[in-house]
Amino acid sequence: MSASILVLNGPNLNLLGRREPHIYGHTTLNDINQRLTSLARQAGLTLENLQSNAESVLIDRIQATLDDDTGFIIINPGALTHSSIALRDALAAAAKPFIEIHISNVHAREPFRRHSYLSDLAQGVICGLGIYGYEAALHYAIQTITQQNTR
Ligand code: DQA
Repeated sequence: MSASILVLNGPNLNLLGRREPHIYGHTTLNDINQRLTSLARQAGLTLENLQSNAESVLIDRIQATLDDDTGFIIINPGALTHSSIALRDALAAAAKPFIEIHISNVHAREPFRRHSYLSDLAQGVICGLGIYGYEAALHYAIQTITQQNTR
């Protein structure tokens, strides 16, 4: 059975489309998830998505990847990026390849957004490409899993 892809979104990303649209755009998280699910399906892979405003829910789901078929994680941790050592520890423990993604260019905003507790553990970091960043991350994840399957 081939590995599946887990897409995690942290606090306030449930408000995409309504939240500061001049920064985050008008597309909803539901639209993004539908698009990602359909792209993964076209590649013959399954994709699960989860958004939570609660740090513990995200951590529990990341821990569960130790015992499921998750092969790659795409995570927009929202503000937890800049504050959560616990999220970092969970990703380190899970030891799954992941991409950290931000819709906005966090380096062009307030100084406190420039630091991430996750970036050095990530396979890669995408920021500032708007919601296209999710798609770019998914293409990479699909490529990674597909290459593993043909090895
Ligand atoms: C964000 C950037 C974070 O700084 C912010 O707290 C978010 C969204 C982004 O996608 O650009 O909630 O991760």
